[in-house]
Amino acid sequence: MRNTSTQVKYLRDYQAPLFLVDQTQLHFDIRDGETLVTATLELARSTPGTQEALTLDGDDLTLLSLVVDGQPWTDYEVGEGGLVVNGLPDRCQLTTQVRIHPEQNTALEGLYACGPYLVTQCEATGFRRITYFPDRPDVLSRYRVTIEADASRYPTLLSNGNCIESRSLDGGRHEAVWEDPHPKPCYLFALVAGAFEQLTGEYTTTSGRQVSLELYADQGQGQRLGFALESLIESMRWDEIHYGREYDLDRYLIVAAGAFNMGAMENKGLNIFNTSCLLADPDTATDAGYRVVRDVIAHEYFHNWTGNRITCRDWFQLSLKEGLTVFREQQFSETVNDPAVARVEQVRGLRAFQFPEDAGPMAHPVRPESYVEMNNFYTATVYEKGSEVIRMMRTLVGEAGFRRGMDVYFDRHDGQAVTIEDFVAAIEAGSGADLSAFRIWYAQAGTPLVQVRDQWDASTGTYRLTLNQQLAATRGQPDKKPAPIPLSVALFDQSGGRVSSPAQSELRQTDDGVIVLDRPNAQVQWTGLAERPVLSVLRGFSAPVRLHFEQPDADLALLMRAEDDAFARWEAGQRLIHAAFADVLKGDDARGKARLSAFCQAVAATDPEAPIVGEWLDIPSTIEFTDGLERVDVDAVLVADNVVRRTVAEGLREQLEAWYLAAETERPYRFDAQQAHRRRRRAACLQLMAQVDADKAVALASDLLATADNLTDRMAALAAVNDLDRPERAQLFQAFADRWADEALAMDKWFQLQAVSAVQGLPAGIAELAQRPDYDRGVPNRVRALFGAFGQRHFAGLHRGNGEGYRLLADEVLTMDALNPQVASRLVRPLTQLTRIEGERARLMRTELERIAAKQDLSADVREIVSAAL
Ligand code: ARG
Ligand code: ZN
Repeated sequence: MRNTSTQVKYLRDYQAPLFLVDQTQLHFDIRDGETLVTATLELARSTPGTQEALTLDGDDLTLLSLVVDGQPWTDYEVGEGGLVVNGLPDRCQLTTQVRIHPEQNTALEGLYACGPYLVTQCEATGFRRITYFPDRPDVLSRYRVTIEADASRYPTLLSNGNCIESRSLDGGRHEAVWEDPHPKPCYLFALVAGAFEQLTGEYTTTSGRQVSLELYADQGQGQRLGFALESLIESMRWDEIHYGREYDLDRYLIVAAGAFNMGAMENKGLNIFNTSCLLADPDTATDAGYRVVRDVIAHEYFHNWTGNRITCRDWFQLSLKEGLTVFREQQFSETVNDPAVARVEQVRGLRAFQFPEDAGPMAHPVRPESYVEMNNFYTATVYEKGSEVIRMMRTLVGEAGFRRGMDVYFDRHDGQAVTIEDFVAAIEAGSGADLSAFRIWYAQAGTPLVQVRDQWDASTGTYRLTLNQQLAATRGQPDKKPAPIPLSVALFDQSGGRVSSPAQSELRQTDDGVIVLDRPNAQVQWTGLAERPVLSVLRGFSAPVRLHFEQPDADLALLMRAEDDAFARWEAGQRLIHAAFADVLKGDDARGKARLSAFCQAVAATDPEAPIVGEWLDIPSTIEFTDGLERVDVDAVLVADNVVRRTVAEGLREQLEAWYLAAETERPYRFDAQQAHRRRRRAACLQLMAQVDADKAVALASDLLATADNLTDRMAALAAVNDLDRPERAQLFQAFADRWADEALAMDKWFQLQAVSAVQGLPAGIAELAQRPDYDRGVPNRVRALFGAFGQRHFAGLHRGNGEGYRLLADEVLTMDALNPQVASRLVRPLTQLTRIEGERARLMRTELERIAAKQDLSADVREIVSAAL
């Protein structure tokens, strides 16, 4: 039974649970083709003496028996989505037994088979596919779990907490009993059964607790767990140093799952990870892949305090744990990576995914007010914008105040299920700041636009800014209010030195000189200046806003050279490129090329060993170029995109080859910041070279592919030839596939690249890839590698004028909807950008969306997205 209900749930309807579950005992009897789950709940009415029925959630369960306090109970109804039990006393013990079929579970939610083993995924509401239970995060319970299974097929049996008993049973079976001392919501429950290879480590917390760290992966994959283990230890130490938070169990387990719907899951004491976020070696993970492993390990570990010890009252509060944990992960990543590169990448991600989301039909506040399918709200808005909101809060209250606020949060709410409001109140209490106006960031959807105009009066030495903020209406939110926007600003003199005179303004300024624009319009000025200064604004990306500020090319070039805030320095280059793109788009090629020449000169004048060079050379994607355009004329966008890329390649022609050759890295491969930067610079050079000197690029790429000792370089070689219509392209891809056919993670990258190639041939080329025997729709990584990449990153292919790109994607959405609605509802999203696409294409897109909407039995997941767009 799949969820096809379109019932809307509202935040304003929240009601506290009628029954609490003090203790939960689960017994799993894992059999061939079916599993029997017996659940015993110690129930207590939250208001004794009342008479309401108990409602338990359940999905796709076959109820075999129901017993209350040892007696068979008949006063109940099994309905759609749950079980209603009448006439219960204030306290009782309720036992149900159900049958489930993990082997047939293709949705990968609840208990499911992942190759030869079984794993769970319960967030947000997968636990109801395991047993009848109040499946909501504000019901916290202590768990004792017994797992019984065949001993040779499932030698390892894991659940949360501590293993308190294990023994052999008759018939070649065995069982293990696990107990988790910490009360938790059921979405943090986990179970794993299988045969694994294991890597073990040790960690001692500051207060002396010995923790055994155990990482599990498929047979033959054990040697790829080393980097994850190192990263885990780094994360544990980091949380002690930066937030004073220690781990609270004797064991920390992580299991790799090949078939997994998302990145990873923070189940208490037993994380389950997508293999792509856990396994790393030079042949199957790129530098970026290593970084993902480190960041995701940190993220899931940090959830132990922000998510597990303190959890969400309801799912509308998801950003309470996700925004905060992403923020902590980002802070961590800024300390272990180059902080400048880390921040640049955060902002690029936000602009590529969150800004479009916030401008499209699925725009929603960081704290949504309604949803149909909760899985659709694990979004860039809840995660990444949620993190930016916390970052702004820290800017407003100061670092020390923020840390005191976090201490108050942990003290007040440990062991509770709370709201975003509770979090903000704790930060206020710890810092003494008043955040009443700030709360609006959680409630309003959309990306604010900040406009800056400047004026220089040489006679008085006065530099004046006029600031303005606007926020366009979004669905259900016609009238927006101004939000407090922290703007970090600095002035530079014409030789690149900092101007230290203070800003004068009616606006509040923080101790660190950040101006808070909290009204529609305001002015800021500086007086007594000797010459016209150069303004840098939104330093460090101090707020998740779009900025409109016309600034002379020479000023931006000066900031590219002189800014000491690395983000702002990178951003000055981006603004030149984006302005050039806009010029070319409206037909002013000459103006655009002049800007790009200023950009190229500034890049060429920079020490190529500086990490920022690799970032600059990685020219914005077409999607990044279209961000902020109200109407998208696809053909014009593609032309302008091409002009910008070629012009940059020509402008840096001399540097590209020299820098390529100079970027040789050490052998054997090592993942470290400096080496990774060199590989990144080399890849970007090769990519640009292909634009202007294809022969040379092909020769270098062939050589690189043949000699590289790591996946990063191999991918750089394939990427460089990926858009070239030459026979070598097919040869190099074939050579890679011949060598790495058995490595799923490496082959995912191979699929990904071809999915975005300009010369792959549409629709036949993509369809051909989808017909390969190794295109397995049971493994979300593979589906995302092909159709996820196609939809999200192959702008020209998706928007083919005759609509075949839309049709291709829609076909896959329909196929996947029947198997795995969560994956399908992610794949469909690129088709919902139709409001911004111009002309016939909008109609063609709509036709495909209507075709999807017409499917009988369409999942609630896909229907919610498609309906919002239609
Ligand atoms: N809590 C997990 C994490 O961010 C992700 C869970 C996503 N769940 C989902 N149904 N999409 O670490
Ligand atoms: Zn998370």
